[in-house]
Amino acid sequence: MKLRVSLLGAGNVTRAFLNYWQQHPFGIDLRIVSVLRQRGVWHGDEPASVDLDRLDYRKGLEPFNNSQLIIEALPSVYPHGEPATSLLKAALEQGMDVLTVDKGPLVAAYRELSSIAEKSGAQLKFCVGGALPAADIALRDLRGTNIRRIRAILNGTTNFILSEMQTRKCSMDDALKIAIERGIAEPDPSQDLDGIDTAAKMVILVNAALNQDIRLDQVVVRGIREIRPKDNEIWRLVGTYEEGRIRVEPESISPADIFSTIHGTDKIAEFDSVEMGRLSVIGGASGRIPMGATMTKEILNLLL
Ligand SMILES: NC(=O)c1ccc[n+]([C@@H]2O[C@H](COP(=O)([O-])OP(=O)(O)OC[C@H]3O[C@@H](n4cnc5c(N)ncnc54)[C@H](OP(=O)(O)O)[C@@H]3O)[C@@H](O)[C@H]2O)c1
Repeated sequence: MKLRVSLLGAGNVTRAFLNYWQQHPFGIDLRIVSVLRQRGVWHGDEPASVDLDRLDYRKGLEPFNNSQLIIEALPSVYPHGEPATSLLKAALEQGMDVLTVDKGPLVAAYRELSSIAEKSGAQLKFCVGGALPAADIALRDLRGTNIRRIRAILNGTTNFILSEMQTRKCSMDDALKIAIERGIAEPDPSQDLDGIDTAAKMVILVNAALNQDIRLDQVVVRGIREIRPKDNEIWRLVGTYEEGRIRVEPESISPADIFSTIHGTDKIAEFDSVEMGRLSVIGGASGRIPMGATMTKEILNLLL
């Protein structure tokens, strides 16, 4: 089977995906027919092994080149998500399926994007929170239930820093240095430390799973910068949805709470539904292979 794909963004995530796909093509002949980068757009027809740096990018070309699937991995920009939001709306309106890893357009316009997809018959798939299938659980396994509460750790960087501070008894600066050395934290980790990344992921999860329309500026957010764990205190940055509101704040966790067992870059999402009670998913490793595998899974789900 042939699949014509447009790549919006050709950075780390796109390359991790293409690398993974080359090893695991699942019998699908993925053809890259266009690539959008800051430097311009390329049109052509190449396999997943294409060298993205050797293509001839030009200004003024349209970005889709009649593809079937758009894979969008542009930088996450808040609150408007541009240019990705407009690009994804246009692609979905034209009936192209979309897989995005970019929180920007999902935070800005999830409801609008999914309603355009519904009208045109296109599919909108997304992966946020690495390999943790939190939205999948909510949308598929808890379908039709009344989810009254979601509690989650969704940011690997802050969880790693808080875990290191607890186990090594080190300062936040030292824990952050280790996280940057290991490639866990970005050189500028502000969005992680200030809770913005967790807030964005909670907004996407809640809006998608509970059909809500909560904006990022409606979330009460407190990051971890002030946290200095004492003795045996266990701190985690927790996103909570209940009674129609989202808040993100560091919490001192009891050792009896399952959240105290989430260490390093692991994550957790716990759903509490009226009909099925509490259901948790734990894990969500970050890194190139988990990212490639997660995106591949979404494409396989989309084609089924
Ligand atoms: N789902 C997850 O778990 C997960 C994990 C990691 C990252 N992400 C998300 O994935 C996205 C991509 O991350 P990344 O690390 O791959 O980023 P990256 O390495 O910085 O790559 C960004 C790409 O976007 C292109 N670009 C930037 N601004 C553009 C613009 N205005 N117009 C056209 N192209 C533009 C860049 O073009 P040039 O090549 O010309 O510079 C580059 O190819 C981000 O939104 C990030 O938050 C998600």
